[in-house]
Amino acid sequence: MAVIKVRKTGEVIQGHEHVSNFLQKQGVLYEHWDIHKLPEHLKNKFVLNDQEKEEILAAFKEEIEDLAARRGYKTWDVVALSDATPNLEELLKKFEQVHIHTEDEVRAIVAGHGIFIIKGDEQTGYFNVELEAGDVISVPEGNPHFFTLMEDRQVVAVRLFIDPSGWVAHPYEEKEEVVK
Ligand SMILES: [Fe+2]
Repeated sequence: MAVIKVRKTGEVIQGHEHVSNFLQKQGVLYEHWDIHKLPEHLKNKFVLNDQEKEEILAAFKEEIEDLAARRGYKTWDVVALSDATPNLEELLKKFEQVHIHTEDEVRAIVAGHGIFIIKGDEQTGYFNVELEAGDVISVPEGNPHFFTLMEDRQVVAVRLFIDPSGWVAHPYEEKEEVVK
């Protein structure tokens, strides 16, 4: 289950109901997939060939099609990041800059971990959403955010798009003290 950390107060929010309520108030979609559907041989595998990526999409076909029907996604794929990813450091530097997209950014974590740092309402400010396998999140269109890995430095996620070109990152100017 996801854990929330509010950056300016240090408040930690956990437990499905509290996390769901918090994210709902912030306009962030949060759902859960049954991660036991992931084929055994793909658990803890962070370097994936095309066939293995297709296997992941097939394992969660029902969940993907349900989400797509509700929210208008047209295409989906699988992304894997780990220390085996060429240029991981450069990629992370890019991911760790505050940015926005012209469509929402939806990710279903199927292995490893990731953190979205999202700008909440004025009172809340930026908060971390620490995600583990089974967590599904969507950062709303136009909402400033960034992404990074956790201590394990590895993640596999399903991404869904209305139009992949909508996922281009547009930098968002933010004062450093506001993000911290
Ligand atoms: Fe993004």
